[in-house]
Amino acid sequence: MATPDLLIVGSGLFGLTIAERAATQHGAKVTIIDRRDHIGGNAYSERDPETGIEIHKYGAHLFHTSNERVWEYVNRFTTFTDYVHKVYTTHDGVVYPMPINLGTINQFFSAAYTPDEARAVIAEQAGELAGQDPENLNDKGISLIGRPLYEAFIKNYTGKQWQTDPKDLPASIISRLPVRYTYDNRYFNDTYEGLPTDGYTAWLEKMADHENIEVQLSTDYFDESQPLNKAAVRGRIPVVYTGPVDRYFDYAHGDLKWRTIDLETERLDSTGDFQGTSVMNYADAEVPFTRIIEPRHFHPERDYPGDRTIIQREFSRFAERDDEPYYPVNSTEDRETLLAYRAMADAEPRTIFGGRLGTYQYLDMHMAIGAALSVADNKLADLLAS
Ligand code: FAD
Ligand code: NA
Repeated sequence: MATPDLLIVGSGLFGLTIAERAATQHGAKVTIIDRRDHIGGNAYSERDPETGIEIHKYGAHLFHTSNERVWEYVNRFTTFTDYVHKVYTTHDGVVYPMPINLGTINQFFSAAYTPDEARAVIAEQAGELAGQDPENLNDKGISLIGRPLYEAFIKNYTGKQWQTDPKDLPASIISRLPVRYTYDNRYFNDTYEGLPTDGYTAWLEKMADHENIEVQLSTDYFDESQPLNKAAVRGRIPVVYTGPVDRYFDYAHGDLKWRTIDLETERLDSTGDFQGTSVMNYADAEVPFTRIIEPRHFHPERDYPGDRTIIQREFSRFAERDDEPYYPVNSTEDRETLLAYRAMADAEPRTIFGGRLGTYQYLDMHMAIGAALSVADNKLADLLAS
């Protein structure tokens, strides 16, 4: 095999963006390897063979951005539908709109508060712990939105996400709990949002569709039986590494902690519409899952079968080493560990660490793409010349 000008480890949106820029702007010959048997990292989706419904394999992915450059860039590879994301939550047998807004408040208190009245009510309830510095997430939540709304909509949901009683979680996990004093329940505040018209995989494949880009799937950077492995490549050719930074350094400073989710996917033959919306949260402790996704609602414009549907129950827990790392726990200890790995990464010859796993950061898709475009602007020419 010819040696590429640039090796990219990981075919997620970070790696794909770097690959596309290197091939298109620099004329570089790029090889992307990915240990999975498909392209696209966590944004990957596939069609259910029986119903044709597009399933986001690693959890629901909604594209949204206010970054003009990212929006222009992604539109080179796909168009987007006019899908607008909305979330509802079930609490005590009643469905409420999320995030907490005037509709949620009036429904919850069986009231007809104006925005000013609702603000005054919430401010009074939030004053319960006035003058005290919240020591845990529970007190913090109460001090932000008052006990009634906090206990109904935030407490048990957050407890399920962390598998931990909020009284035992640090207050720093939430800095704010947005409450909207209007009836607007659009989930994202961004200028642009939508879903890729022909699905995520068509978009992701288009990014790699360039004569200078070769993709090798089921190929692990740490597998010494494949030629482009770390031991063979390190320091010899330019590399962009988007896998876990602690794994790269053989966990020399310990494991960075992550949360993961388990998805329980079920095809229903009894109905064509299980819940009337794409995402239903379950706010109460008695329900073991955090939410149910019904993927058909991401694409109301598509001709999906009317008599069948798919639902995915989502469970949240701490990740073990062999689980998919999804959300950084980011404790004080993690942040110290990360600094040690960052120093090692900076000293690593001819290798740039990027993306979610390479930098131990939660990145939305537009952030991963934006970060990759910055690396392409500022570091790629030097890396390729090294
Ligand atoms: P990834 O997509 O994780 O790609 C990294 C790739 O590297 C993977 O394919 C992996 O297999 C590969 N790799 C790792 N180690 C090796 C190795 N040793 N050898 C070879 N390959 C390797 N973003 C949004 O904008 N909206 C959303 O609604 C949204 N929802 C999300 C829901 C969940 C559950 C998760 C986990 C993420 C969500 N995101 C969402 C974030 C989105 O998935 C990320 O922004 C995106 O995945 C970042 O791309 P990346 O390239 O950094 O990482
Ligand atoms: Na480096």
